[in-house]
Amino acid sequence: MSQLKTISHLDNIPSTPGKFKMDKSPYIHRLRWHSWLCRVGLWSVVFIGFILIFFLRSPPAPSAGDPARRILGNAVWGGPAWEKRVRSSARVRRNHGLSVLVTGAAGFVGTHVSTALKLRGDGVLGIDNFNDYYEVSLKRARQTLLDRSGVFVVEGDVNDSALLRKLFDVVPFTHVMHLAAQAGVRYAMQNPGSYVHSNIAGFVSLLEVCKSANPQPAIVWASSSSVYGLNSKVPFSEKDRTDQPASLYAATKKAGEEIAHTYNHIYGLSITGLRFFTVYGPWGRPDMAYFFFTKDILRGKSISIFEGPGHETVARDFTYIDDIVKGCVAALDTAGKSTGSGGKKKGSAPLRVFNLGNTSPVPVTELVSILERLLKVKAKRSMQKMPRNGDVMFTHANISLAQRELGYQPTTDLQTGLKKFVRWYLGYYSNSGKKRIG
Ligand SMILES: NC(=O)c1ccc[n+]([C@@H]2O[C@H](COP(=O)([O-])OP(=O)(O)OC[C@H]3O[C@@H](n4cnc5c(N)ncnc54)[C@H](O)[C@@H]3O)[C@@H](O)[C@H]2O)c1
Repeated sequence: MSQLKTISHLDNIPSTPGKFKMDKSPYIHRLRWHSWLCRVGLWSVVFIGFILIFFLRSPPAPSAGDPARRILGNAVWGGPAWEKRVRSSARVRRNHGLSVLVTGAAGFVGTHVSTALKLRGDGVLGIDNFNDYYEVSLKRARQTLLDRSGVFVVEGDVNDSALLRKLFDVVPFTHVMHLAAQAGVRYAMQNPGSYVHSNIAGFVSLLEVCKSANPQPAIVWASSSSVYGLNSKVPFSEKDRTDQPASLYAATKKAGEEIAHTYNHIYGLSITGLRFFTVYGPWGRPDMAYFFFTKDILRGKSISIFEGPGHETVARDFTYIDDIVKGCVAALDTAGKSTGSGGKKKGSAPLRVFNLGNTSPVPVTELVSILERLLKVKAKRSMQKMPRNGDVMFTHANISLAQRELGYQPTTDLQTGLKKFVRWYLGYYSNSGKKRIG
């Protein structure tokens, strides 16, 4: 018993060489063994301490698991400097101004809407994933333009819920203008997954974060005239059926409208869908006919103009970008509040859908004639049967609901709008094909 006591007593004494006279003890071997163990233990603690100091003193490496800083492609988000930029961009500078998160801000419509909001003193923060569906340099040039007017565009995907949550942590956005999407009808035959990723999964990801935000923002988002699909009754009215989409793009926009209904119903989110009709203008999209016709006419390349089986002309309700911007801003200004908070509905909230068109369809052949006059170059026209790739023969908007509820009144005819587009195009692309930011 006393031996046991002695051993246990020595066990508790730190192993300090020379402090004890061990050679006279009958337990000398066991004590040496314990002393060795203690030394190993001590050095292990010192070693682990060094490792910890090393990691704690190193600058934090951006990694997907680090909640403070994350990395996406080449872009890093998070950290005090980044948060300061986000706050400054979203700061409201007028009485009763809005604080708006604009998704797809480096896109055609996103750039124009963001600039208009910023100009009148609203707080604006953009997000865009800068995908390469069309020339990324054009998106970067738009970003530079936005930067100059004080709009910070965060590089990120709307499917990145952690990033979205972080943005809502930093800024209590009053509104979201959701324009991020995989646009274009024909590209769906090459890359159908991109439509599901951005237009369906991305929209749900955004709504999930909005529904949990406190306060919940009101959401205005871009649907499309393509939801009218194969309808033949004109002009297209919001009351008409929308269950015959002619393309995957249209189907994803229709799905978006149904998803909007669900989130409005369950979570009390205020949601407004805007069905845009063929938007055109400066800083436009290179995949759209007016844009690549201009390019091809100037290069002397022949352009394909589609027609129906009985030589019917294809027509579009071309809508100038400034008119669309006015419609978007009016939709934000009239959006009622979301009623829920922290994911719980407290009452019913507005759910709206509006056509934003020009109400005067123009045959594509006429579009080409206007471009010929403006460019002073004769087009090499090649008339072709419309392929079955998702395009429809015509679009024509009934805008009476938007007129009544939003005060929406388009004022730019195609001739005037294309003149502005051509002026921009010639300034942006020099003859050598180089780009300028104007
Ligand atoms: N321009 C038109 O004629 C027209 C007509 C009907 C509907 N719309 C809709 O209006 C909106 C804006 O169209 P646009 O013409 O400006 O197109 P756009 O392609 O120029 O803009 C969309 C932007 O969203 C970004 N984006 C795409 N997926 C994203 C994602 N997952 N996360 C983050 N960013 C993403 C793209 O990089 C792009 O900059 C779209 O929703 C489009 O479907 C446009």
